[in-house]
Amino acid sequence: MANKKQKNGKASKVRAAAKKSARKVVKLASSTKANGNGLPKPSSKPYGQAGLALQGVRILDFTHVQSGPTCTQLLAYMGADVIKVERPGAGDITRGQLRDVPNADSLYFTMLNGTKRSITIDSKHPKGMDILNRLIKICDVLVENFAPGALDRMGLTWEYVHKLNPRMIVASVKGFGPGPYEDCKVYENVAQCAGGAASTTGFREGPPLVTGAQIGDSGTGLHLALGIVSALYQRNRTGRGQKVLCAMQDGVLNLARVKLRDQQRLAHGPLTEYSQFGEGVPFGKAVPRAGNDSGGGQPAWLLKCKGWESDPDAYIYFITQAPVWGAICDLIGEPTWKTDPDYATPKARLPRLKKIFARIEDWTMTKTKFEVMDICNAVDIPVGPILSMKEIAEDESLRKTGTVVEVDHPTRGKYLTVGNPIKLSDSPARVERSPLLGEHTEEILSKVLGYSASQIAEIKTSGAITAPDKSKAAA
Ligand code: COA
Repeated sequence: MANKKQKNGKASKVRAAAKKSARKVVKLASSTKANGNGLPKPSSKPYGQAGLALQGVRILDFTHVQSGPTCTQLLAYMGADVIKVERPGAGDITRGQLRDVPNADSLYFTMLNGTKRSITIDSKHPKGMDILNRLIKICDVLVENFAPGALDRMGLTWEYVHKLNPRMIVASVKGFGPGPYEDCKVYENVAQCAGGAASTTGFREGPPLVTGAQIGDSGTGLHLALGIVSALYQRNRTGRGQKVLCAMQDGVLNLARVKLRDQQRLAHGPLTEYSQFGEGVPFGKAVPRAGNDSGGGQPAWLLKCKGWESDPDAYIYFITQAPVWGAICDLIGEPTWKTDPDYATPKARLPRLKKIFARIEDWTMTKTKFEVMDICNAVDIPVGPILSMKEIAEDESLRKTGTVVEVDHPTRGKYLTVGNPIKLSDSPARVERSPLLGEHTEEILSKVLGYSASQIAEIKTSGAITAPDKSKAAA
């Protein structure tokens, strides 16, 4: 145990450090006063005309399939110049996957690679590596989602890249973080299963279920985008880049965190808001699947609406939020439930949820989902219509906000894409069609990297940017 003298010594050291840091704060305060926080003067340009949020940021995009491309597409929407590097002749594998129009890039590709430029480079060709070296020197961020080890096998280790450009941020999506599975290749549903989402999705009586929302791929792409923007912000202060890693398992778990919450609650008793509690079904050791139960503290369920017999999407999600219980009782014609001790309080309702939702459904089945939406929202009852993708594609309000955007493509014609779901008041989203394979190769070589016409001609014949000639290979 420390004696009094030692304690006093420690205390005076702490006081001295505090004084020193206080002096620092005063110094900082006076300098910030002098230069206005170190920030430029507020722009006098009207909102939306002062450039885009990520203008000036250049991304070397080595991504493919879905997780990485979602990330770089978002950064492009925000104004970054995204240079997508693709293998000559082949490109991102999704260009040819799930094709709906013969010989045109698939929607799989076009909807994940808008607003980017495409350059073809064979990274395993010496001249290809020369081009990559130049790109590394002038880019701010390298983003990749190759299988574990592939970037290193290309020769682009962190040490190599960082030596060429100490400001470079190297951002990666991998399936798993360091640990027993770190070398595994991973696709969407693998991540949904390993991240805890599948075991908690579906009905109790059925098997685990994956969801249609791509929480493993697009979800992790979103996480990576936040990591990149944070690293760019930190670089403003430190001047140096860093590695950003998002594992798909971690990204899914982050989105499924309420279920890890429930796992811990289980140790203290049953999960009373799960309908299995009201049905008297005992809980096991792990969080069960909860069907369409609400993930929060307000009991809810999916209910049929008028037309459900022929329309698979004629449903509404109905939340019995406690403060509007009275309004719900009035709407469904059960005013006595407002005061009946079996129904009047949330606790009393818990064991009766099945009966309550059956009664509410008797009412919702007399209305269309949009009628229920209008009636309920007028009295503040939170409900959600099940919207089909057809309804979403045709929704005028989503077109107006730029959440659904129609773009024109030279080989496939017009198509719908999802615009920027993040709206910035001073940075309008830049949503453009996806590039053709290698569409910007010459433009980037000459205008971005400064190669002369004769150098470009030489590169072209070297095989570094063109697909191998199959007839020569066969000869
Ligand atoms: N020039 C030359 N070679 C290139 C190239 C280029 N421009 N671009 C890619 N390649 C090569 C790579 O060097 C690598 O070759 P190598 O294995 O011989 O070293 C190969 O193409 C890419 O391989 P890989 O990433 O393993 O692709 P895959 O089709 O076998 O696997 C995934 C696909 C998605 C399973 C895998 O990339 C992965 O697990 N990624 C991380 C997790 C992830 O993002 N998953 C979600 C995808 S939506």
